[in-house]
Amino acid sequence: MKRMLSGIKPTGRLTLGNYIGAIREFVKYQDEYEMFIFIANQHALTIPIKAAELRRNTKDLIAIYLAAGLDPKKVTLFLQSDVPAHAQLGWIMTCLSGYGELQRMTQFKDKMAKQETGITAGLFTYPSLMAADILLYDPEYVPVCQDQQQHVELTRDLAERFNKRYSDTFTIPEPLVTKVGAKIYDLQNPTKKMSKSESSPKGVIDLLDDPKSARNKIKGAVTDSLGHVAFDPENQPGVSNLLTILSALSGESIDSIVARYEGKGYGDLKEETGQAVHDFLTALQAKYKEILAEGKVDAILKEGAERASRIANKKISKVYRKVGLSL
Ligand code: TYM
Repeated sequence: MKRMLSGIKPTGRLTLGNYIGAIREFVKYQDEYEMFIFIANQHALTIPIKAAELRRNTKDLIAIYLAAGLDPKKVTLFLQSDVPAHAQLGWIMTCLSGYGELQRMTQFKDKMAKQETGITAGLFTYPSLMAADILLYDPEYVPVCQDQQQHVELTRDLAERFNKRYSDTFTIPEPLVTKVGAKIYDLQNPTKKMSKSESSPKGVIDLLDDPKSARNKIKGAVTDSLGHVAFDPENQPGVSNLLTILSALSGESIDSIVARYEGKGYGDLKEETGQAVHDFLTALQAKYKEILAEGKVDAILKEGAERASRIANKKISKVYRKVGLSL
């Protein structure tokens, strides 16, 4: 079985974008691959966050992973900070990364261009920690959305650099970019990514939003004045975003939805998409509550950390020997 690894950082409440672009994919892959899915909680510290909020987001994220259908018997589910080898290899990857290389990472570049205040050194070097997260486990594939692809490319470069400098050590991972829903857009600003940290409340659907209010957000989504339903992300980004959401949640292809909408307007599409989101959130949240009430999360994470540590510790020992840290 080929190995796959991915993670999400608990910086805020999870969005429909995280579900469609990432979690849904993880669930699909769990039967075909040996999966490692983790919560990138050390990455959450790259922007200021209160301890209580980080704890709450982390618990919510695990419960949502499970509610969405990840099966801890098939998937190794763990917290990044429970496996210290991530930080250990992270430092080595930071020392292997070029300053210019990290400056070219778009997320960092965008924040600098917007002259945001409070940009930390951690935000600058986080792609190196992400490379460590991946390389510790030798996965063949890393499922990510479009905006993370560049980080997986950097990971490949760092792995090749290390292998060349010190001899073969790491598998070179492939990014697997989601096909439908690689990027879900802000409902109010459909050329921008739906983001837990940057979208306005009306533009983003939180997985723990009240389902009725989520339906209203879809009804209030920005569209255009062309008036016909077509999948044309360039000229009709809002409508295309709704089609992507509906297709992802219903399993019906975008082409087939478009064909059904011949002669119909945006109102109907918003109605159907709103209902699909409403029903999806209702079912997900019911399971999420059940999982939290069962109180199994801690045991699942403990077992996950043990399994992950066995692999990660072997790898970091090997790396320490190769670079000369262990005597
Ligand atoms: P993060 O937490 O920003 O996002 C996690 C995953 O969610 C998906 N995603 C989206 N997909 C579609 N549309 C959107 N609007 C949208 N927003 C988010 C993406 O698939 C993304 O992959 N650095 C990573 C976390 C990380 C990681 C790793 C991932 C740390 N180490 C190692 C993979 C492997 C991050 O910030 O993702």
